[in-house]
Amino acid sequence: MTTTSSKAAPAEPAASFDSDLSLDFLRVVEQAAIACAHTMGQGDRHKSDQVAVEAMRQEMDSVPIDGTIVIGEGERDEAPMLYIGEKVGMAHGASGPFPQVDIAVDPLEGTNLCATGAPNALAVLAASESGGLLHAPDIYMEKLVVGPSARDVVDLDAPVRFNLRAVAQANSRRVEDLVVIVLDRPRHAKLIDEIRATGARIRLIGDGDLSAGIAAAVVGSGVHLVMGTGGAPEGVLTAAAMRCLGGEIYARLVVNSPEHEQRCHAMGITDISRIYRSKDLASGTNIVFAATGVTDGTLMKGVRFFGDGIRTTSLVMQTHPHRIRFIDSIHVQAKGPTAKIRF
Ligand code: FBP
Repeated sequence: MTTTSSKAAPAEPAASFDSDLSLDFLRVVEQAAIACAHTMGQGDRHKSDQVAVEAMRQEMDSVPIDGTIVIGEGERDEAPMLYIGEKVGMAHGASGPFPQVDIAVDPLEGTNLCATGAPNALAVLAASESGGLLHAPDIYMEKLVVGPSARDVVDLDAPVRFNLRAVAQANSRRVEDLVVIVLDRPRHAKLIDEIRATGARIRLIGDGDLSAGIAAAVVGSGVHLVMGTGGAPEGVLTAAAMRCLGGEIYARLVVNSPEHEQRCHAMGITDISRIYRSKDLASGTNIVFAATGVTDGTLMKGVRFFGDGIRTTSLVMQTHPHRIRFIDSIHVQAKGPTAKIRF
């Protein structure tokens, strides 16, 4: 399915790069998903992550960009590949010119989900013109994610019952009809009690608040909000998805030690108590977001291997031109015209 916004795109975005890059980024997330899908259920989350990282890193160098990883697998000294600041893309090996692009990656969002064969593991990437994605340290972030109809009616600091009432009203339904996704963590005990007290329904998830956030912004997914604390890198990736989907993330970094504060400052973040919205976390004019399902999930099927080929489902979105695509790919592996392609 392809949906294209009917709004006329602005004549020329301030700092643009070729929107066709979205299909190059599609290849990158597809290859990461295919690589780790073979480790599904093997119980080794590090191995799952490692193969996704390697596949993503390798495919990234065939993308015609002068890319910089701004959110990745960690600092240079702790991650051998896709570390923050790493240069990626064809510019680093071929002569250009190539557009400068900032890239946020999560080669395997939900390492435990993949390792246990649980739903909603994804390979994810977001891109923007240089400077268009917040450089966030890998610390926690408080998050509140809602869909387009509720984007302006909630407040990160408001009582839970206030926000749920506002979202229910914006969606023309009762609080009891809402579904709120919360990461199943001890730190969320009070939050869960407060949601239960309103009568709203809760889906507790083991991992994966990024895919939950995407679902909250898609009408018909059966998810209305995501609440609670998760990773800041996933928060920036969620913001990039929200820029494309019209949903909203409200977020605040959880800075509770001098070391956290230092890491924020090192990344240029001075106001550590700031409440961010999507446009602050993913401020770029040209945002591209691409994700491929690793295991079956709410919006995408997982990777399927069928001998003659591999089938993947992906979500590829961009702000200019504003386009949201669900892409079903068959990667034919059999030689010649005899390949049996399954539906
Ligand atoms: P990984 O992909 O690194 O395993 O992270 C999954 C995840 O569940 C995220 O979706 C979420 O933001 C974060 O971990 C929550 O962190 P924690 O597991 O420490 O509560």
